[in-house]
Amino acid sequence: MEAIWTLGSRGVAEHPSLAEDAEVDVAIVGAGITGLTAALPLAEAGLRVMVLEAGRVGGGATGGSTGNLYATLASGQAPLRHKWGDDVAADVVRARAEAVDHVEALVQRFAIDCQFRRQPAYRLVSDERQHADHDLNEELDALISAGLDVEMVDSAGLPFDSWGIRIAQQAQFNPLHYVQGLACALLGEGVVIHQHAPVREIDPGRGVVRTDEASVTAKHIVQATHTPKGISLVQAGMPVSREYAVSARLRSGEYPEGIHWVLDPFHSLRSYRHGDDRYLMVIGEKHPTGEHRGDHYQLLREYLAARFDVAAFTHHWSAQQYTSPDGLPYIGRMHGHGNLYMATGFAADGLVWGTVAGTLIADQILDRDNPWQARFGARRITPGKSALQYAKENATVTKHMVKDYLGTEKLDGFDAIAPGHGRVATVEGEKLAIHRTEAGELKVLSAVCPHMKCIVHWNASESTWDCPCHGSRFDTEGEVIEGPSLHPLAKLEGHR
Ligand code: FES
Repeated sequence: MEAIWTLGSRGVAEHPSLAEDAEVDVAIVGAGITGLTAALPLAEAGLRVMVLEAGRVGGGATGGSTGNLYATLASGQAPLRHKWGDDVAADVVRARAEAVDHVEALVQRFAIDCQFRRQPAYRLVSDERQHADHDLNEELDALISAGLDVEMVDSAGLPFDSWGIRIAQQAQFNPLHYVQGLACALLGEGVVIHQHAPVREIDPGRGVVRTDEASVTAKHIVQATHTPKGISLVQAGMPVSREYAVSARLRSGEYPEGIHWVLDPFHSLRSYRHGDDRYLMVIGEKHPTGEHRGDHYQLLREYLAARFDVAAFTHHWSAQQYTSPDGLPYIGRMHGHGNLYMATGFAADGLVWGTVAGTLIADQILDRDNPWQARFGARRITPGKSALQYAKENATVTKHMVKDYLGTEKLDGFDAIAPGHGRVATVEGEKLAIHRTEAGELKVLSAVCPHMKCIVHWNASESTWDCPCHGSRFDTEGEVIEGPSLHPLAKLEGHR
């Protein structure tokens, strides 16, 4: 099901498909908030910019996000301060607050109808205080130290007991409408945006990006894809997780205003208005990608139903997160390449980091100073520095490899696969990803992830094949939805 943000979606005019080879100054892979934010200053500086999007503008991580914009991190300011100290923690808040201002300025400049609104953010514990292991005083102190306008509150407009910290002057918007508006503005600046153009190869040595139909030669290649495409050292230290969202209409009409992070256990709540209708949404049930454990949407529905007077559930969707080992994103020019850029490690905070990233990458290409380059630069990761994390994360990959290659059940036929279900099994010595549609049609793919040969797992909540190693995800036809894989799961037509 699509995210609530698609209500009233206007889309972006389709450019004729990329049928012939082209030459540009900058090829941007991915039309989410990072890629489109970068495209604007590049086009304004007179560079020829082409954006290649596998799906539709904003249809990836941006369109699956919460639409919350905040200067701190969802995981908390105190852990960041504890790890990095006062200066870095304050820099994070400054960089992110500037990015929220940047979004607001672009909304005003291009009159983007995306319901951008300044709102408070709340960090709360609920009534089960005896079970709460959250030091709000330490968090309050860290937020004040970083320069945020905060206060303790004992009510946050929720229909259950809660108390915690109110952070003033954060913001909310519809992220999909925002990037669609930005894309329309970019078309006016001469940027070419090709939707439905998945990239199959990135060759920084030759300065070439290849789709199924054509090759694009570019002086600079920006991977605005949430994680770099293909094999990269950065993926080895980057846990990947999925988080789920459910929206509902309430009987009472009393919808909470602002960003609500309820910490015990972590759930994010916010409301949204579309026309005369209002909606409440909850985000939570995070788990490592590829380790789907149950009906996450149903658990979120039960969470809402236990706390609000739900009249009807309306939408459900999900999103992926890549969390960097040191808690800060990796943005900009990559090691070993003067012309290849990435932006990853945004954790749950990607809308604002994506805006920071777009600006930073554009500044690097335009050879302009950017105050955050040293702090969040992609070249922070080096083979030497990351060896320990690489070894740790490789242990996870090895665990999955051994378990999945040795432990996959053997099947003699496909009768055991019920309609609507999927299963990985060994058939005639091959690891297969087998799905039977609700209509009874069998879809058989190779279960071997084209990225680095891990075995994909069935995600029953979303009917997708998810790779536990670095987060590549595939639909039931095998096509790449997201993640580092450049290629689909192989189709095995002979199996029926
Ligand atoms: Fe890396 Fe599948 S995403 S092996």
